[in-house]
Amino acid sequence: MRIAPRISYTKPSMLEAKGKIYKCIPEDLSLFGIKFTENIDNLNIGDDVIVYLELKDEVSLNGIVSRIINPGFVVLFNEDPEVIANTVGKYLTEKIFESKTCPYCGQHLEQKVEICSKCGMYLDFSKKEVVKITKDLKLGNFISKLVHEKKVDYGALCIEENIEMIGSSPKMKQVFSLIRKYAQTDYPVLILGETGTGKELTARAIHERSRRKDKPFVVVNCAAIPEDLLEAELFGYEKGAFTGATHRKIGRVETANGGTLFLDEIGDLPYNLQAKLLRFLQDGTFERLGGNTTHKVDVRIIAATNVDLQKAIEEGKFRKDLYYRLASLSIELPPLRERGNDVIVLAKYFLSKFCKELGKTNVIGFSEEALELMKSYTWPGNIRELINVIRKACVLSDKNIIDVNDLDIRFENINLSNVEEGILNLHKHIENLEKELVQKAFILAGGNITKMASLLSVSRPKVYKLIEKYNIGRIKENIN
Ligand SMILES: Nc1ncnc2c1ncn2[C@@H]1O[C@H](COP(=O)(O)OP(=O)(O)OP(=O)(O)O)[C@@H](O)[C@H]1O
Ligand SMILES: [Mg+2]
Repeated sequence: MRIAPRISYTKPSMLEAKGKIYKCIPEDLSLFGIKFTENIDNLNIGDDVIVYLELKDEVSLNGIVSRIINPGFVVLFNEDPEVIANTVGKYLTEKIFESKTCPYCGQHLEQKVEICSKCGMYLDFSKKEVVKITKDLKLGNFISKLVHEKKVDYGALCIEENIEMIGSSPKMKQVFSLIRKYAQTDYPVLILGETGTGKELTARAIHERSRRKDKPFVVVNCAAIPEDLLEAELFGYEKGAFTGATHRKIGRVETANGGTLFLDEIGDLPYNLQAKLLRFLQDGTFERLGGNTTHKVDVRIIAATNVDLQKAIEEGKFRKDLYYRLASLSIELPPLRERGNDVIVLAKYFLSKFCKELGKTNVIGFSEEALELMKSYTWPGNIRELINVIRKACVLSDKNIIDVNDLDIRFENINLSNVEEGILNLHKHIENLEKELVQKAFILAGGNITKMASLLSVSRPKVYKLIEKYNIGRIKENIN
């Protein structure tokens, strides 16, 4: 279903591109852009343009060429929702109510209403909020919208203003439910999951939803701190405790007082420190290194690991008693490849996030093939890897659709049983590329066959064949 209506609009209009003014005939107009029926020589995808339209008043709108259709091209408006609402939005709204028909479901409209009583779609686009929501929906930003509105049923958990946890697969819904339940208690929690599955994010989520949310959330990575320094780091030390201890230093457990201490990579906690941690877990007491005084703090422990702690117990590397103390409440984060459609939801979410950050308003989404590829890939680095892949695609791609070629994915990690038939069809991909190149050459050469043949390094008869095959534009024959 279309998110915003498109109306027929054929008043001759002006377009400014590359410093020149052109007279163009539009075909239709929507909140997002306008389609013209002729081509302009040398106009390329991504070119900035200004469109002058005669709506109720004369308006000028900044835009970007998003598609060349031959004949015709599409300009996407590159304007603030407020500007769109006051110009195209008002005009569209007027036309909808003049027609007395809902453009989505055909319901008869007696009077001006904001939302159609039958299909529930917005009908009044003269308000910037409605334009913004409609644009967000089109860009897939609705996920973050819903997160902020705390509609958790849509698969997102609002942790705080700037932390969002996305997912709507049954496994992630279960995780969200555990986060909410565990947040109500003070017991330790053990979070298990492969690298990049969101263990730290989950720990923060529990903290942010607990009564401790205004107190510190302190992270200690047990694998990153050398064994002989870890105890001092955790429990602090007194002056003179060891060579170089020139002053008293409080440890992370004290820093976290009232809040949460997140012990990452708990499987790497040295055996002798495990007993100290167990005691701390039992009564919240500890001594600083080199000190005799026993201190007590109120700290909740959340631990995480990507190693198999049961195996570590069998190998005598991890204390059984500590394990049971930590693991009475546990959360197992599924790897991304087991989250079904979440990979797509996450990919769209991060694409819109990075596009916004990079100001790339022309990027619309992913190609079908790119979506299929992301679904088939095994994501050994899980969400962190997905974020990196999308960020890179967003930075490097000049196109408005992110395609397979833009995704820096290691092909040996594709799960062949998930590969949709045809996704790797070489012939199809070559054809797509060929068509794209011929289209570009056609535009650059202004339809001149000789120039196209030279640009594409093929013979003139071959150019004719390609133009015919892909049904590309009108041919301007050479006079000589
Ligand atoms: N469900 C999710 N929705 C949105 N972002 C997520 C989600 N899960 C993880 N992330 C993001 O993915 C990245 C990796 O998450 P995090 O650091 O929590 O993983 P981890 O399991 O602790 O990784 P590691 O084992 O490597 O330490 C972070 O940027 C995090 O914000
Ligand atoms: Mg981590």
